[in-house]
Amino acid sequence: MTNETVLDALRNVTYPGFTKDIVTFGFVKDVNIQGDKVSLTVDITSSADEVKAQIVSEVTSELKKLGFLAVDVNLKAPQPPKQMSNSQTGKNIAPHIKNFVMVSSGKGGVGKSTTSVNLAIALAMQGKKVGILDADIYGPNIPRMMGVHGVKPEMQGNKVLPIEAYGIEMMSMGSLAEDGKSLIWRGSMIMKAIEQFLRDILWSELDVLVIDMPPGTGDAQLSLAQSVPVTAGIVVTTPQLVSLDDSRRSLNMFEKFHIPIAGVVENMSGFICPSCDTESDIFGMGTASEIAEEYKTTLMAQVPIEPAIRHGGDTGQPITFHQPDSETAKRYQTAASALLVFLDKVNAEGGVDNAAMQPTTPPGVSACSTGSTAPATAAAAPKEQPKDSAESCGTGCGCH
Ligand SMILES: Nc1ncnc2c1ncn2[C@@H]1O[C@H](COP(=O)(O)OP(=O)(O)OP(=O)(O)O)[C@@H](O)[C@H]1O
Ligand SMILES: [Mg+2]
Repeated sequence: MTNETVLDALRNVTYPGFTKDIVTFGFVKDVNIQGDKVSLTVDITSSADEVKAQIVSEVTSELKKLGFLAVDVNLKAPQPPKQMSNSQTGKNIAPHIKNFVMVSSGKGGVGKSTTSVNLAIALAMQGKKVGILDADIYGPNIPRMMGVHGVKPEMQGNKVLPIEAYGIEMMSMGSLAEDGKSLIWRGSMIMKAIEQFLRDILWSELDVLVIDMPPGTGDAQLSLAQSVPVTAGIVVTTPQLVSLDDSRRSLNMFEKFHIPIAGVVENMSGFICPSCDTESDIFGMGTASEIAEEYKTTLMAQVPIEPAIRHGGDTGQPITFHQPDSETAKRYQTAASALLVFLDKVNAEGGVDNAAMQPTTPPGVSACSTGSTAPATAAAAPKEQPKDSAESCGTGCGCH
């Protein structure tokens, strides 16, 4: 009798509620045969008693059929997530993640995803346990930028394991949906997707989850702010005045959503010539300092236009990791250090409270698909609003 014989027999045991068996799921571990005795561990994803009882009974029966007299099944059920976040009030559907950082911009194409990837990697290089969530469900770019384009995530029961790259955990709609398939997202679907990204992905106990947002201020931003206490917001802008005007909208959104503003990243700020290494001004430089001051925050970094950044994004070789000695990588590292100091400060002051962000929708009225009116409604809600009002369905948006 070998371990293989045991595993083959256990392929007859399907996980309750699923069509796949416990061996295919990878749940069977540590098979140990001693004469007519066998012991093994089964990792299960549910803590329901009936699931445990069914698995033990079926495993025992299959192994007794092989002739074993004693079968010892050790079940390992998931531990309830540990509360890591400092924030105790409001709603938090991923309490095992200590800090949530929302990376936003008023305009598309200014470098949010590039900033998110490089900042996340810089944080990890500084010893933090980091995840990156690509919340841009319309145009997910993070898998390519992290070099895991086309990699499909593993499932564990009905949950999804994040994909690992550069020492950080990553999840994106691009890794879940079929390549190139265009999806039309209604407001309610966006909210559901954001919730599932936080609830159904098996993120570790992270120090920081960096969240790359779609451009603008819409349902995705509102849904995120309602689902978890966002510890810090970062606005990415380019130096042109038109981009700065749009950035004000993002900064206003952070204020309305009670999200502490960590700072502004001025991207495409000047140009570093690859042949002579000199820095020259193309779109303007330093113009973002003014709005940073206006919103009583700081200019976290000025990142030049540099071919190596674009190349790093396209080839999945982020500059912070692959050229750590470059001037640009150093600027991302400085921004990451400033972000960590900021997060410590916010937590030391009691963390973030998103109670005021919870939906105020009266019974029978959906808050979904209200587009631009939704943020205003939620933001205008009084602070003493009950955190999970009995009238709401509790999904965070008034939807089902
Ligand atoms: N500082 C830079 N130097 C050179 N190229 C850059 C720089 N920043 C970003 N890019 C490139 O510009 C393009 C747009 O950047 P990115 O995708 O990060 O922007 P975004 O704000 O996330 O866009 P979207 O709004 O579409 O999500 C990418 O090809 C990226 O590699
Ligand atoms: Mg992007």
